[in-house]
Amino acid sequence: MKKLLILGSTGSIGKSTIEIVRSFPDQFEIVGLSVNNNIDELECQIKEFHPKTVVVRDRQKAKELSGRIGSSCKILSGEEGLLEMSREDNYDIFVAAIVGFVGLAPTIEAIKLKKRIALANKETLVVAGEIIISLCEKYGAELIPVDSEHSAIFQCLIGEQKKNVNKIILTASGGPFLNKSFSELDTVTIEEALNHPNWKMGSKITIDSATMMNKGLEVIEAFWLFHLPKEKIDVAIHPQSIIHSMVEFCDGSIKAQLSTPDMKLPILFALTYPDRFVYNSVETNLKKVGNLSFFEPDFDKFVCLKMAYEAINTGGSAPCILNAANEIAVEKFLKGKIKFTQIPVLIQVALNKISNHTIVNLDSVVEADFKTRELLKKMFN
Ligand SMILES: NC(=O)c1ccc[n+]([C@@H]2O[C@H](COP(=O)([O-])OP(=O)(O)OC[C@H]3O[C@@H](n4cnc5c(N)ncnc54)[C@H](OP(=O)(O)O)[C@@H]3O)[C@@H](O)[C@H]2O)c1
Repeated sequence: MKKLLILGSTGSIGKSTIEIVRSFPDQFEIVGLSVNNNIDELECQIKEFHPKTVVVRDRQKAKELSGRIGSSCKILSGEEGLLEMSREDNYDIFVAAIVGFVGLAPTIEAIKLKKRIALANKETLVVAGEIIISLCEKYGAELIPVDSEHSAIFQCLIGEQKKNVNKIILTASGGPFLNKSFSELDTVTIEEALNHPNWKMGSKITIDSATMMNKGLEVIEAFWLFHLPKEKIDVAIHPQSIIHSMVEFCDGSIKAQLSTPDMKLPILFALTYPDRFVYNSVETNLKKVGNLSFFEPDFDKFVCLKMAYEAINTGGSAPCILNAANEIAVEKFLKGKIKFTQIPVLIQVALNKISNHTIVNLDSVVEADFKTRELLKKMFN
């Protein structure tokens, strides 16, 4: 019986994780859950799974929940609540299904407790990859990727020697605007950007997929996870999203991992690795899938992808600035404050205006994140 802490339990990854727990009641137990403010859904989850602790980031909502459920479980609030729950040494697997920079500090607490980290929250590796990887090595914590692309690469590398890897190929659906021209992107609506052709995901990552910043963040995530230079991290557009990523070896052989696009598979793998559980909920019938196609991404149209590669080159706090500016820009787009094509423009402004510094510890990450948010906040005042 593995005990799970699920940060972001009301989100797309969080709910898929909960579905898996429902399918394997003898294998997994939930001891902690967290949300931002969706206490209605959290209340249902508490009644079903009886966690010991929950965190509601919004303090007012935490009070409201307390009034509703009394003392049936410990209710914490704020970002310090997330840290406190992550420090409770009563779980085996930390599922980072929370979105954004806020996931970083609690993940570090779980690493210090030597827990298995099932990492969906790619922002954590983007902003503090070096710190996270060295902490995992220091404390002996396992970092298992949940992102389908990185899970695919992780699976392709099992039994292989790193010296034999020529390159990894991250596949990308291309999002809803794959076939739009650069000038057409100027007038796309929020609804169109949220209409991903293959995946049902939270709103932030769906917009990231539409700008292809999602693939850019994944390139940075892969850079840290697999210790490869950026020249060995390739991106291929694969509109069917059946091949989740590939590894090319020195003899020219390519290994790929395939399935129907459903995040329950990489989540389950991250929970059960090195074992696999019998699971019949996600079927893949390649005869029905038909053709699989692959082509080069258009870096001039999807500027965000280009900026992510450049941020690896620049190093230091550049990935952190890129991430913070992207989080703010996506939020502004979703609120109708900026156009879709202004997302990369805002990110570039932040990268130009904020001086780069070396990342030495968590404080330097927080500083870069804070400066970026302050700059963009001023621009909207
Ligand atoms: N969805 C996917 O298929 C997918 C695939 C690969 C990787 N990922 C990554 O997984 C992470 C989660 O994605 P998602 O699509 O599941 O996101 P989502 O549907 O938007 O869910 C986010 C979860 O985090 C909570 N949350 C949001 N902002 C928060 C804050 N400031 N403080 C505390 N909690 C907060 C939300 O609570 P409320 O419900 O209360 O707002 C919700 O439980 C992201 O980093 C994403 O890039 C997702």
